[in-house]
Amino acid sequence: MLQKPRGTRDFLPDEMEARRTIEWRMREVARLWGYREVCTPEFEDLELFTMRSGEGIVEEMYVFLDKGGRNLALRPEITASVIRMYINEAKVAPKPLRWCYFADCFRYERPQKGRYRQFWQFGVELIGADTALADAEVIMLAADMLNATGVTYDLKVGHLSFMKNLLKDLEPPAQRRVMAHLDKKDYDGLKATLDAMDKPELAHSLTTLLECRTLKEAFEIAGNIPGKERIEQTISLLDASGMKYSLNFGIARGLDYYTGTVFEGFAQNLGAENQILGGGTYRLAHLFGGDDVASCGFAIGFDRVMVSLGETQHKKDTVVAIVCTHEGRDHALEVARIFREAGIRSEMDLMERGLGAQLAHASKTADFAIVIGQREAESKNVTLRNLQTGEQKTLDPKSAIAEVASHGACR
Ligand code: HAM
Repeated sequence: MLQKPRGTRDFLPDEMEARRTIEWRMREVARLWGYREVCTPEFEDLELFTMRSGEGIVEEMYVFLDKGGRNLALRPEITASVIRMYINEAKVAPKPLRWCYFADCFRYERPQKGRYRQFWQFGVELIGADTALADAEVIMLAADMLNATGVTYDLKVGHLSFMKNLLKDLEPPAQRRVMAHLDKKDYDGLKATLDAMDKPELAHSLTTLLECRTLKEAFEIAGNIPGKERIEQTISLLDASGMKYSLNFGIARGLDYYTGTVFEGFAQNLGAENQILGGGTYRLAHLFGGDDVASCGFAIGFDRVMVSLGETQHKKDTVVAIVCTHEGRDHALEVARIFREAGIRSEMDLMERGLGAQLAHASKTADFAIVIGQREAESKNVTLRNLQTGEQKTLDPKSAIAEVASHGACR
């Protein structure tokens, strides 16, 4: 028997309904903040991702040659594609642009719970606003979106300048190596790398920086860093908003394009793969042939949010089985139509079963049966049976709809 590729998943209808419910909650929050949805191709020129996304992600990519000999990659993330699209399609649009997306990404990683080779991100990119309020807006939106899903999480906000100031004497490749250790929270590796570079004192400053929980402490360790005022403004806006977050100056982010503010969200009930959100301010547009526009964004790891929520979130549809005899068929079609127009999921028998077999099937698949025989067809009424209680009454179709709807509402 053929199986799905490693690191991918199939989703049955119950799971898809739960996923769509949560996806739409996120989309609704994005809409309220003015972020409009965009869509980019699943594969791009490989170069788009090798230019700035960092070595880690390049190693993890699905890369292939197409029949025309082009070097392509399945997208490992969507930020680079969105910025490419901005340059191709919307460079002259009034700024800032508020965009969001919900799409799948592909990374050739070792699969485990919460880590897949195909996974979905809900992300936003705010393009062309270079202010403290812009950075704060994106972080507040991230919190609003996670709140809407019902997940319990910790949001940590930091800034790369603190770390970069401590590492400023290292060459860029060495800086990247150190930041990769920090990103993976690999503190033994960090110490070994800095010892090998003959910079053991840096390990001490960096670990002290990681423990700072206020801006004041972090400034004391990292010195007077560039953009100090902007950082203070962003943090005071977050405080004014009343949102819940904590400062963390150890956030390094795995992707290379970040420039300043960075933030990550962690689900409280997940194990190793508990990072459910990552983002920050970045500059990519100039690399792809555009102006040097400032951007800020994040992506939520949708699958990890679903793992964190577990089975609890899903409110199922009320299901009505339209059960009819041959004589009742035409009236049943009419009744099914008006039930669906009223927003009620209604299913007719397609197997030419007898009334008893239809009811037996309905008891396994539906909450209510609408029974339509010759009597109902003549009177234009329906018999409504509650399949949980066995209670049954004959009603006109509108009253039956009201009865079914009230059941859904009080669940
Ligand atoms: P990222 O941190 O690489 O950032 O990914 C964002 C989120 O995607 C992670 O926090 C995690 O929840 C989820 N994720 C990553 N890899 C996997 C995987 N293999 N399986 C399941 N979930 C995964 C970005 O991708 C940036 N583009 C975010 C961004 C947008 N920055 C600015 N704008």
